[in-house]
Formats: sequence, structure tokens, C-alpha cells
Amino acid sequence: MKKILVTGACGYKGSVLVPKLLNEGHQVIAIDTQWFGNFLPTHPNLTVVKHDVRFTNTIPLKGVDTIIHLASIANDPCGDLNPKLTWEVSALATMQLADYAVRAGVQQFIYASSGSVYGIKDEEHVTEELTLEPISEYNKTKMVAERVLLSYQDKMAVQIVRPATVCGLSPRMRLDVAVNMLTMQAIKRGKITVFGGKQSRPNIHMQDITDLYLFLLDRPEVTGVYNAGFENITIEDIAQILAERTGAEVVSTPSNDPRSYRINSDKLLATGFKPKYTVADAIEQIIEAYNNKELEEKDRWYNLKWMEANCLA
Ligand SMILES: NC(=O)c1ccc[n+]([C@@H]2O[C@H](COP(=O)([O-])OP(=O)(O)OC[C@H]3O[C@@H](n4cnc5c(N)ncnc54)[C@H](O)[C@@H]3O)[C@@H](O)[C@H]2O)c1
Repeated sequence: MKKILVTGACGYKGSVLVPKLLNEGHQVIAIDTQWFGNFLPTHPNLTVVKHDVRFTNTIPLKGVDTIIHLASIANDPCGDLNPKLTWEVSALATMQLADYAVRAGVQQFIYASSGSVYGIKDEEHVTEELTLEPISEYNKTKMVAERVLLSYQDKMAVQIVRPATVCGLSPRMRLDVAVNMLTMQAIKRGKITVFGGKQSRPNIHMQDITDLYLFLLDRPEVTGVYNAGFENITIEDIAQILAERTGAEVVSTPSNDPRSYRINSDKLLATGFKPKYTVADAIEQIIEAYNNKELEEKDRWYNLKWMEANCLA
């Protein structure tokens, strides 16, 4: 049993990850500003603290073995809303948390970076060795946070994951990520609007990314930086799966969004980690949850809309 501090624990990923950690018998301290609410279960081994990671020295780190750091302003448009806040939360607070963690004797630090740190690459296989050319404030803060964390490698196990875009269900849902958004359009509106559908994007299922954090937790010797994305497919491909599954009409509109990126996760696969789920599984699970009335469309499932209206006053 480990004592684990999870930041951003009430978010899309954290809300799936924390119950898995509890299920494995770990003790969890969940830190989050709760911008999108709190959907974590009540559990004797779980302490939920409504707290901003920027106030590092009041984060309860006594006896903590591992930090899983998920808190950030999590996507490009949200990062652009208030760049100062984005840098403070993602980069400065990460540096302070790492420093404080080392002083408190934390042994292991798992960081949710992003596959988007590479920017737009011409290479067919985007591997961890390629240079980082982040485009947005969000990507830049992730790159800087990674570099800061790597400077602490001699003092604790630093495990950095560069995930693809996550898809699939969570009690704190996100409908602003590609697969989830298109699935909701197909089932609610019978029409999928595709902007520049030839862009290729890497994806990872929610169950796989959260299993990956558990995998790393059990293997502190697997240090360094790992891409984590297993299906590089175009938006048109996703729309096609949805059209076949739901009968929705696909409407294509040209886009000037340049982002077409692929990532190669061979380094991660070589550690023995095996993904189990696909984009098609995520689509199926979302449709099922919607049909069973377990999933509703809400403004708070769209980070940008919700943050603009509620988080930056
Ligand atoms: N979802 C994806 O597709 C994806 C892909 C790559 C990387 N990531 C990264 O994984 C992490 C989790 O992503 P997510 O999809 O769960 O995002 P999310 O927006 O659902 O969760 C982030 C959580 O962090 C919290 N938070 C934000 N600022 C905070 C602060 N100052 N102090 C404490 N809590 C704060 C928010 O309230 C939210 O609950 C993020 O760092 C994100 O950048 C996500």
C-alpha cells in the first residue's frame, strides 16, 4: 500500500484513476480546485482536499510516497484564456511541487505531460528523441514542466507520460476531446461536423491511460519520458466509425487548424505495458451510457465554455 497524492484528482482522468488506486488498496490524497466539480466516491482511504496547487507549501505531503501530477489548465484554448495563470499552474507550481516533494522525502513523481509538446512534425514516427516545438501556451508549459522535473531525477523517480488525446467515459466527463465530442454530436444531433478531417491525431482510451499510471506506480524503475498513444487516426476515420455505428450524417468543413500529429509509443510498449482498448470501444461505451441515461450533455463537460463562464472571474 502506498500513500499517493493526486493533483487534478477531480478531473476527467483523475475521476477514473483515483477509484482504481483505492481499489488496489492505496491511500489517496486528492487535491483539486474542483473547477468542474467533484465526482470522486467517498472511501475510508480517500481524503479530498479542495486546494490550489499554486499554494504548494500547504499541500499535505507528510508520508506521501508518490505524487501523480495531473492538475493543469488542460487544453490549448483554455491555456490561452489567461497565460499567466496557465504558466503559474502548469510550470511554476510543478517546479515548486517537485522541490517540496524532494524535501518531504517523496520517492516517485509521475507527471501528465502531453503528446502535443512535439508541435507539428514531418517525421512519420514521432519518438521521444525528437525536438519539442510546442505551439500553444499549454504545450509550452508542459515542455518546461517536463524539463524542470527531469532536473530532479537524481533525487526521486521521475516518470513523464506524453499522452495522446484521451477518449472514453469518466464520471467527470469531457466532451471537448475529439472522439467524445464527435460521438455526442452523432448521437444527439444525428450530424457530425468535421473540420479539416484529414488531420491525423493520436488517441488513447481512458482505461488505458489510467492503467498506465498504475503500471508506472508499480515500476518506479521505469523512469524518463514515454509517449502514450496507440491509434493515430484521422478525424474522418472517427467520423466514419460513428456514421456506420449511428447512421449520423458527416458534414466536412475546411479548417485552418494545422495540427496533424502522430506519436510512436514503441518505447512504452518495450516496458511491457499493453493497451487493451480502442477508439471504437470508447465510442461504444459513450453511446451505451447515453442510451442508459448515465451520460448527459452539460456545459461543465466543455472545459473552455465552463472556464470562461465560471473559473476566471
Ligand atoms: N484529456 C486529455 O486528452 C489529455 C491528453 C494529454 C494530457 N492531458 C493532461 O492530463 C492531465 C489531466 O487532464 P484531464 O483531461 O483530466 O483534465 P481536466 O481539466 O478534466 O482536469 C484537470 C483538473 O485539474 C484541476 N486544476 C486545475 N488547476 C488547478 C490548480 N491550480 N490546483 C488544483 N487543481 C487544479 C481542475 O479543477 C481539473 O479538475 C492534465 O494535466 C492534462 O494536461 C490530458
